[in-house]
This record gives sequence, structure tokens and C-alpha cells, in this order.
Amino acid sequence: MTTADIPAEARDHQRMMGMVTGYWVTQIVRAAALYNLADHLASGTNTPEAIADAESTDPDATRRLLRTCASLGLMTSQDGVHFTGTSLLGTLRKDAPNSLHHFAVSQSAPGHWLPWGRFPEAVRTGEHQVTAAHADASIFDYFARRPEEASLFTESMTNLSVAAAGDIAAVLDTEGVKLALDVGGAAGHVVRAMMKADPELHGGVLDLPHIVPAAAEAARADGMAERFTVVGGDFFEEVPPADLYVLKYILHDWDDDSCVRILKNCASSLLEGGRVVVVDHLVGAVGEPGLAPLMDMNMLGMTGGRERETAEFDALFAAAGLRRVKVSTAGAFAVIEAVPAA
Ligand SMILES: C[S@@+](CC[C@H](N)C(=O)[O-])C[C@H]1O[C@@H](n2cnc3c(N)ncnc32)[C@H](O)[C@@H]1O
Repeated sequence: MTTADIPAEARDHQRMMGMVTGYWVTQIVRAAALYNLADHLASGTNTPEAIADAESTDPDATRRLLRTCASLGLMTSQDGVHFTGTSLLGTLRKDAPNSLHHFAVSQSAPGHWLPWGRFPEAVRTGEHQVTAAHADASIFDYFARRPEEASLFTESMTNLSVAAAGDIAAVLDTEGVKLALDVGGAAGHVVRAMMKADPELHGGVLDLPHIVPAAAEAARADGMAERFTVVGGDFFEEVPPADLYVLKYILHDWDDDSCVRILKNCASSLLEGGRVVVVDHLVGAVGEPGLAPLMDMNMLGMTGGRERETAEFDALFAAAGLRRVKVSTAGAFAVIEAVPAA
């Protein structure tokens, strides 16, 4: 019997069961990542007992976890004792080129998990649920009090940025640019990719003071420390002068008024001939599949921000004294360039 032979009603039932129990899978994947199943299986630690021993987990629960992971396509086993990771599980290896290890752990950790448990409240009130779940004004305040989860989140941003950074750098012309600043840049993947593509370019990261050491360390590891500056600060207060600002996954975190404040700070410090570059997902036509509509729900529950359509970005630019001059595509991202309106 193939999927096509299953009556439509039964298929819908199956599909809805998958959606309803999706959060079970999220936490199964979290456990798989936390207990390094991908790395263990790749290095030959391939029985539940050996993994339980290495990770100090319960042997029977670990055996059941591996059996379930096998039924999810994450691993195979001929004898039910020895397991082999699939390429799907391989995406959770810490050293995989586009690893999702930290993203898997961070998205399912309490910072995100508990507000998501209150998601219907976000829809009822239009308010993010971080304050109700954690008594913090924002997810960034939550992270400021929890350095370990904050650095996990930065690593998870790295997971999403590493793959995209080269594509974003490739569509940005840095000819004549003196300083490119990654605003809210976390580990600065985008600006470092731009600096790798253009060996003359000086770059830097502005982010919260407890975040920027990761960017400085990454630039040192890249051998670019001499061309790289970090600024621990607050983009709502002030943005240091530069002639190219990159804001990747920044505006989607904030409501319109907050976005205008950030953009105005960029516009007022922008050096002659400079540009502001916004990198976010663009919301397409209603019903278009993809990450943008889901990420929009993540922003609704987690930040009070939103994913936007082109016209909505234009309104933000206009309110900040900027105008859009170019839109390029870099993988799942839109790279939107704006210059002073006048
Ligand atoms: C969603 S992350 C995006 C990180 C990075 N641009 C990327 O795409 O990988 C948002 C970033 O904004 C930073 N941030 C939040 N509030 C900030 C503020 N008031 N001033 C500067 N940075 C801030 C966070 O620390 C975090 O690194």
C-alpha cells in the first residue's frame, strides 16, 4: 500500500496527528542533540548502554530514545542493539558544515519553550509571552540573566547564519566601504563573511555587552582582529558611525516603533554615501509555504516583533528618513538595501 492508496480522510488524520504531537518530536530531537547521539554514533559509540554510560543517562530510557529516533528516520539498526546514524541525524553533529545542533537545543530550551507553551495567549492579546513566562521584559533580558543559555542562543544564531553569511556577502557590494557594522551581529558571521570576501574591508559588531566577546574571539580565530572592532552597546541608544550597517534578524524582533528607533539611529550615524542593509525573511503571498510565516508566529510569541512584507519595510524606512534602493535574495533571506531619503 502506498501513501496514494490511503484514503484522503485517513491521510488528514495522520497529518494532523503529526502536527499535534510535533512538540514531542521537538523534545526528542532536543534530547538527541543534548546527548550527542549524532557524534556518538559517528565515532562508534553505538549501543544504548555505551551512550548511556558516556552521557550518564538511564540505560533503559536511552534504549527507548534510540528506538524512537530510528522510527523517526534519525538512525537505523539491524539488531536493535547497534545503531547507525542517518544523514538526517548528521545535521545535529556539532562539526557538520551547516550544523543545527545548537539551534535544536536552544529552540527547545526553557527560554523559548515556556513562552511557546503560552502561544494562544499571544494570539488573544497580541503580546509576546516572555514576560508572563519568565518575568523578563524581553527574551534578551532573559538571556542577560542566564549567560549559559545566552551563549547557546548565540551559537544557535551561528547555526543559522553560517550557511547564509556567504550568500549575503556575495550580494553586497563593498567597493569603497570603509567600515561595515553588523548591528546586533552576535558572533558577526555576516560581517566576517564580507571581510573574507573583501580583504580591504574593516568591520565590526555592535551588540549587547555580554554578547560581543564571542564576536571578538571569532574575528581573532579568523585572523582578522586588526580589521575588526566590537562595540558593547544598545542600538536603541546609539549606533557608532559606519558606512554600511547590516541588520540581520534584527527588525523582525521588534514592533514598528522600535524598528524605526533602530533605523533612525543608523540613519543619523551613517557616513556620507552609506547604506543600511536589512536582512530578514520577506512574507510572500498568503498560503506560500516556507519559514517566513512560521517565523512570524515565533516572533509573535517570543518577541512582539513580526516578519514583514516589502511595503511594511518601506514604511519603516520612510519613517526613519530612508528609502529602499535594492532587494536581493540570499537563500531564504531578503537583503534589502536603503539609503538616506533626501
Ligand atoms: C535574533 S539575534 C540575531 C543575531 C545576528 N544578527 C544573526 O542574525 O545571527 C538578535 C541580536 O540582537 C541583539 N540585541 C538585542 N537587543 C539589543 C540592543 N538593545 N542593542 C544591541 N543588540 C541587541 C541580541 O543580543 C542578538 O545578538
